[in-house]
Amino acid sequence: MKLQQRPRRNRSSEALRSMIRENVLTPNDFIAPLFVKEGKGEREEIKSMPGHARLSIDELIKEARELHSLGVEAIALFPAIDDSKKTTDAKEAWNPENLNFKAARALKEALPDMLLMGDIALDPYSSDGHDGIVDPRSGEILNDQSVEALIKQSLASAKAGFDILGPSDMMDGRIGAIRSALDHENFERTLIMSYSVKYASGFYGPFRDALASAPKKGDKKTYQMDPANAREALREASLDEAEGADILMVKPGLPYLDVIYRLRQQTTLPIAAYNVSGEYAMVKAAAQNGWIDGEKVMMESLTAFKRAGCDIILTYFAKEAARLLH
Ligand code: PBG
Repeated sequence: MKLQQRPRRNRSSEALRSMIRENVLTPNDFIAPLFVKEGKGEREEIKSMPGHARLSIDELIKEARELHSLGVEAIALFPAIDDSKKTTDAKEAWNPENLNFKAARALKEALPDMLLMGDIALDPYSSDGHDGIVDPRSGEILNDQSVEALIKQSLASAKAGFDILGPSDMMDGRIGAIRSALDHENFERTLIMSYSVKYASGFYGPFRDALASAPKKGDKKTYQMDPANAREALREASLDEAEGADILMVKPGLPYLDVIYRLRQQTTLPIAAYNVSGEYAMVKAAAQNGWIDGEKVMMESLTAFKRAGCDIILTYFAKEAARLLH
């Protein structure tokens, strides 16, 4: 056979393959989500997320140091708030002495160079388990009242030392409102990574176990997006960009690579993907059963985000993947 084109030639050795590789992962692509709880010396395993635990602040700092030594330079903090502190107005969310802010101050003191991202949404603090304020009569999630609460949470988060705020609530107009409030209080250096495109997804199950934050009634479909929609994702993202977001996020990750790719065509901003808890749990469960090679699937999945156009990946695999990349 006299073939003119033999694409296999470029794959014939590892040296060639690595020379022509289009996308590479590095540990500083990752943001590692970590869960914090009250107490000392505690690591309380999260059953549906093997390898992850709710950590007391001292353990959290150890974990952050380890991540940093592996080249992971950003973490996203999620607090497991005691039920007794959850209320309908979620006011614990902006209490300067709350668990989240105590942890942030301790982390910043121990590791000033580690970028710290804080979630902006009411669900960990809300007795209703919703990201916004619930109208007690109609059960509706009240947009503008929720934005007022999110502004208080954002200002308190910036004060506590968070470098990046991640509004994950999907209320309308919150990016602009939070940006103005931050600038007004001289927090113009605090970044906003908007969860711009967040779907009403079944893939958040293990995370809601970890924080006991599942909605008490109803679902999140009036604020999180319909998984059937992609054009609407572009609309959400353009609004956030116009309102001053620094980084746009798509969430969940793997089932929405097409959305990431489309967004890549539309924006010049950095794009992040959240490789969420359910995606992590599926890989872990299959690997524990010996049904897949967990490490291989992990690296393949993370690379897929880069191929789709992401700059940043929030992933529970951060530590494991960073170890392999070393
Ligand atoms: C809360 C929030 C959620 C996640 C991040 N922030 C859950 C939800 O919206 O119900 C999910 C993360 C994951 O599943 O890993 N606003």
